[in-house]
Amino acid sequence: MELAVLLALLGAARALSTCRSLDLEAARRKRIEAVRGQILSKLRLAAPPGDPPPRPPLPDDVRALYNSTRELLRQRARLRPPEDPDEYYAKELHRFPMEPPGEGEFWGGGGHTR
Ligand SMILES: *[C@@H]1O[C@H](CO)[C@@H](O)[C@H](O)[C@H]1NC(C)=O
Repeated sequence: MELAVLLALLGAARALSTCRSLDLEAARRKRIEAVRGQILSKLRLAAPPGDPPPRPPLPDDVRALYNSTRELLRQRARLRPPEDPDEYYAKELHRFPMEPPGEGEFWGGGGHTR
């Protein structure tokens, strides 16, 4: 008996949440439509524009300049080693002044321990 009530409640809750997510999705679509309409009206267009007309090909000299620039950049990239991000930023160096260990001290290799 209790189980039946629980199952019924669960079912109702699931139906409610499904309904809610459908509502949210519909609201989202409506909002997108509204924004699209606003953009079109700002542009004084009744409908989204179609594809732009095909562009004429680039003049040969422009194309040659583009090609040579690209080739130059490729050569430079080949000559230069890849940039290491660690090399790009300034580094903080820590310097520890050290004195050579004296006779019989820790590093001194005397064969005895203290
Ligand atoms: C530029 O390079 C393309 C291929 O990358 C080539 O088809 C074209 O003929 C070149 N144009 C000129 C002007 O060098």
